[in-house]
Amino acid sequence: MALLNILQYPDPLLKQMAEPVEAIDNELEIFIRDLEATMRAGPGGVGIAAPQVGILKRIIIVDVSSKPKIKQHGRLVLINPEITEWEGMAKGREGCMSVPDYTGNVIRAKNIKLSALNEQGEPCEYDMEGFEARAVQHEIDHLDGLLFLDRLVSRHHDLFQRKVYK
Ligand code: NI
Repeated sequence: MALLNILQYPDPLLKQMAEPVEAIDNELEIFIRDLEATMRAGPGGVGIAAPQVGILKRIIIVDVSSKPKIKQHGRLVLINPEITEWEGMAKGREGCMSVPDYTGNVIRAKNIKLSALNEQGEPCEYDMEGFEARAVQHEIDHLDGLLFLDRLVSRHHDLFQRKVYK
């Protein structure tokens, strides 16, 4: 297992579109294992996207099970994820391992329907809400070259410097 180097803003790779995964092979399985280890080693690691380690493939991992009392699906490896329905809007605070010194307020859909392949390449569908839906929307943005900095409600009022990242 290897921990991967997390790219930080303003690395230009973070602004690139990622390509769909076409085959799930042994090499990809090893990459997914390393990507998950990298997420879990990071502070506040509830999600990670492959472009954050410089791999421009449409793979994200989300696991918000550390947050108490919220609806969630546990550990999710989502390959070629697509949001098919959005409902409601809510403003919430986000952080990102690629933007370690700041957090920011971003408006996201409250509820989403999501389709993706799992690690075995099987198509899956999920109904998500709240924090898990926010985390997935944040990670899918990385696949499209977007950071939460690109979605701040106001750069003046919704960007906050961190003292300690935890
Ligand atoms: Ni992020």
